[in-house]
This record gives sequence, C-alpha cells and structure tokens, in this order.
Amino acid sequence: MTSQQLHSPFQQVDIDLGDRSYGILIGAGVLDSAHSYDGLPPASSAMIVTNQTVAPLYQARLVQAIQARYRTVHVVSLPDGESYKTWESLNLIFDALLSKGCDRKTVLFALGGGVVGDMTGFAAASYMRGVPFVQVPTTLLAQVDSSVGGKTAINHSLGKNMIGAFYQPLRVLCDLDVLRTLPARELSAGLAEVIKYGPIADMAFLDWIEASIEPLMARDADALAFAVRRSCEIKAWVVGQDERESGVRAILNFGHTFGHAIEAGMGYGAWLHGEAVGCGMVMAARLSQALGLVDAAFVDRLTRLIQRAGLPTVAPVLDTQDNVERYLSLMRVDKKSEAGAIKFVVIDSPGRAVMRSAPDALVAQVIETSCRG
Ligand code: NAD
Ligand code: GLY
Repeated sequence: MTSQQLHSPFQQVDIDLGDRSYGILIGAGVLDSAHSYDGLPPASSAMIVTNQTVAPLYQARLVQAIQARYRTVHVVSLPDGESYKTWESLNLIFDALLSKGCDRKTVLFALGGGVVGDMTGFAAASYMRGVPFVQVPTTLLAQVDSSVGGKTAINHSLGKNMIGAFYQPLRVLCDLDVLRTLPARELSAGLAEVIKYGPIADMAFLDWIEASIEPLMARDADALAFAVRRSCEIKAWVVGQDERESGVRAILNFGHTFGHAIEAGMGYGAWLHGEAVGCGMVMAARLSQALGLVDAAFVDRLTRLIQRAGLPTVAPVLDTQDNVERYLSLMRVDKKSEAGAIKFVVIDSPGRAVMRSAPDALVAQVIETSCRG
C-alpha cells in the first residue's frame, strides 16, 4: 500500500512503508488548513505535546485547527531544551495521558522541534502499547529530518538517543510559515541537516545549497520550500529502503558519530544538535580524506559551506587531560558501534556514503586537527 494522496493545496512527499506509509505535507499555512487533518482516524480525544517556547506561539492555532475533529483536545507543555529529553519529561506526557483518561485511540500531536517530536513519538510508541501520532515540526531541523522516518528517543547521560523505538507517525505537517519565528542559531542548526543530504546522496542538491545559502539564511520562502521538499524526498527514499537501519539508512548519520560525542561530551544543550552535526560532518569528511576516499578540495568545499551556514567547524576540546580518549570513549557507545568497534559514515565518493571502521590512530589525528581548527 502506498500513502494516501491527500487532496490538499500543499506539496506532498510520500514515505512508502507498506501499511505504515504516510504523507508529508509542505507549505505555508499547513498548520491551519482543515485539509491537513483529513483522513486521520476518528477519536474522541487528542493530546498536543509541545513545550514552553512553542506553546505560546502555535498551540492556539493547532487547537483551533483540530478542535472540530475531537470532543476534547488536551495539551501538555514540557520544559524546553535538549537537556530535558529525559525519562522525567517522558513521564510528564504519560502523567497527562493517564490523568486525562486518554485511551488507545487518542491521537498525539507533536508540536515543536526534534526534541518534542522524538519524545512524543516515543510516548506514542509506548502508551497503551501504541497510539497514533502526528508530527507537526516547527524547526527547520525537524521539518527536514527528525519528524520523518519514525526514529523516536530520549537521551541517557551515557549516550545520545540511547533509549527509544522505531514508530512511524500517521502524517507530517510542515508549515513553512512557522520558521519565521525560529531564532537564527536554530535556523543554522537545521541547515546542517539540509547540507548533509548533498554529500551522502545528491551532489546536484549540494550545488543548489551552495548557490542558495544566502536566500536560505534570509528565510526566502521559495528557497526554504525547496530545501524542505528535497530533503524530505531524499530521506523518504532512504527510509523506504531500510526503515530500521539495517543497512543504507545509516548514511543519514553522516557527521553524527563525532557530533553525538560533542553533544554528550559538552553536556546536552551546550552545542545544538545541528551545530554538532555540522562540525561532525567536517570531521567525518576529514576522516574520509584520511582513508583516501575523497580529496582535500572536497573537504574544503564542505567546510566552507558549513561555515557559510553559520555553523562552527572547529571541534571543542572535551577533556584537557586526554581529549582523544574522551572522544573515542563517547563514540564507542554510538548505536552503530559493534562489539566496541566504532563505525563511521564516510564519503566514498562525492554523493555516496558508506559505513567504515577506521584505525584509532587515524581517528585521533582527525580529532586533533579538528580541535585545532
Ligand atoms: P529543539 O527541538 O530543541 O528546538 C530548537 C529550539 O527552537 C527550542 O528551543 C524550541 O523550543 C524552539 N522552537 C521550535 N520551533 C520554534 C519556532 N517555530 N519558533 C521559535 N522557536 C522554536 O531542536 P531541533 O533542532 O528541532 O531538534 C534536535 C533534536 O532532534 C535532537 O534531540 C536530535 O537528537 C533530534 N533528531 C532526531 C532525528 C530523528 O530521526 N528522530 C533526526 C535528527 C535530529
Ligand atoms: N536522522 C537519522 C535517521 O533518521 O536515520
């Protein structure tokens, strides 16, 4: 079965996953349009999960858009930030669902960035062994990556996104208008994940991003619409082949092995996820060069683009005593590691990524060079 073609005025990208297929609607005004909610399963109640920053901006609009569909619309507003992507916050969702008498048909709406989306998805996967949920991503990063593909999780102090489940949403609603209120630093963080799709899958897209980086940074509506659409198409193509990351889906983690070490090592929230991924992509590109796969010109090109997107490219020192060992030990708990051996996503040739292990000495060299800038 393919996903249902929705009769909406918006662009639609489909994720084809048999009976778990769904559509991503992209456009200005998606949040408010009744068309966006057509065909969702009937239920007596809905629960909007959001946070204290997004709620005052968009909660009323979502309530307004869905209240005719449900007898009751509940809201739970979580504390904001990566450092709150925890069991405690997850429990706030369960507390709200149980105390409001939500049942197995209650539809959860994740209204926020990737943190809210990942936690709501995990709550939906586990509440009463699974309830339906809809992603309403409000950051660029969430629209181009985290809301799509069904990865849900919370962090553990020993590792990023270590506790979670694969659980697909019923629909993803990307309203481009909401990106207007996003802080500039968060916009840049989202651009890291947009840039990611170029070197791993589509060099023509990388050319386009290079040519369009100023309009993207200025939030030009057409540029953002194309960036979100093309990113979702590439992600849909990858996830459609390998939903549970037994193979090709791992390429979506380009830059993430180094990046997760930066996030965990600096303390969750100190570096934004997208910032850590941007810097991590520079490190992974350097590793690809050290393995003889790409040349220095490719690494320079990617580094320059990441800088132009307003992202850091000098890696932080995580430990003044033994920085390399700290990076390595954090990377050993990465989900791609096997028997303690770290696996990296490297660029095999521009536009193609593969998984490789690498000698510690080579990785150490990359860490040292990257921390010096
Ligand atoms: P985030 O959810 O923390 O949002 C960033 C900030 O922007 C927050 O302060 C948020 O409150 C605020 N915000 C959100 N929308 C806003 C808006 N429209 N206007 C003003 N402020 C707004 O961060 P993020 O970058 O969206 O997501 C990062 C998270 O996503 C990380 O936890 C990462 O692990 C996860 N992630 C998951 C996947 C996946 O496949 N599931 C992929 C990539 C990243
Ligand atoms: N963001 C990586 C993935 O969805 O697989």
